[in-house]
Amino acid sequence: MATILITGGNGQLGSELKKISGQFSGYNFIFTDIAELDISDPTASNNFIAANKPEWIINCAAYNAVDKAETDFENALKINAGAVKNIAVAISGTATRFIHISTDYVFDGNNHRPYNEENQPSPSTRYGQSKLQGEKEALEHHQGSMVIRTSWLYSSFGSNFVKTIIAKAIETGKLNVVFDQVGTPTYAADLAETIMTIVSGTIKNKFPFVPGLYHYSNEGVCSWYDFAKAITDIAGIECRVNPVLSAEFNSIAKRPFYSVMDKSKIKERYNVEIPHWSDSLKKCIPLIFNTINHERI
Ligand SMILES: NC(=O)c1ccc[n+]([C@@H]2O[C@H](COP(=O)([O-])OP(=O)(O)OC[C@H]3O[C@@H](n4cnc5c(N)ncnc54)[C@H](OP(=O)(O)O)[C@@H]3O)[C@@H](O)[C@H]2O)c1
Repeated sequence: MATILITGGNGQLGSELKKISGQFSGYNFIFTDIAELDISDPTASNNFIAANKPEWIINCAAYNAVDKAETDFENALKINAGAVKNIAVAISGTATRFIHISTDYVFDGNNHRPYNEENQPSPSTRYGQSKLQGEKEALEHHQGSMVIRTSWLYSSFGSNFVKTIIAKAIETGKLNVVFDQVGTPTYAADLAETIMTIVSGTIKNKFPFVPGLYHYSNEGVCSWYDFAKAITDIAGIECRVNPVLSAEFNSIAKRPFYSVMDKSKIKERYNVEIPHWSDSLKKCIPLIFNTINHERI
């Protein structure tokens, strides 16, 4: 029975993996978060991995505070790069497969065509720099590493843009949202399903596991304004959503203007079908309202 270790298991993606793990009864899942295993501690990582001997490790842990990372680079690097190195070194030379998650923020956003895996990363934020360093650690220290870059992640679990927009729209009935930053939202449930397709397909010999870089988001393209407008429309909230320019916001970290990613590689190699972002959003919003109603009871 294959043992699959998921680190950062209480986050958005980790929780979505936990949710679908019941569909994979033949596997031994171990979910950890910082309380059980602090992956920034090399000894703890090494000991935990040696004791549990996972055939697969899926690292969902991260430091995701993009603005805070500008002044807290040391901690961002510690979790987004140092911790990734700890895992990769602990399994170096073994047959353990490592799936690590990265971000569209490794690109500067000056492209006008979707980024593929061959495009040169050039992060314009400290967060992006720390994540890029993490990619290098995973790929350099372990030959069985797959790095999946994703973007604009949301879920019914944890905190994210969708939940923030719903809460602010209900509270204020009026929102200003940037329309000059374009990318693609990713429903963490879809990414979790794709990860398990890769894991289970490899175990069943449906296709070979090919290490390296991959891009994954939902299909389609939108601005944050389009995304917010779709959220309020689908949620049925009366709210005036105004498109505004990034220059009107004083954000600490400079977000990429364009971060659409080309997903051809992952789709072709693993026979993955990716839903359009608006279809996935329609699935997630009722689950968010279920959570809100459940919390009120
Ligand atoms: N969120 C996005 O919009 C986005 C966009 C692109 C890429 N990504 C990437 O996608 C992946 C999944 O993101 P997510 O949104 O699911 O993340 P998340 O919800 O922030 O979850 C990350 C989890 O990792 C935990 N963690 C932090 N430091 C740790 C450590 N030293 N050891 C073990 N666990 C630790 C966090 O605990 P605490 O909550 O206690 O810190 C949290 O439970 C990450 O690699 C992220 O960088 C995310």
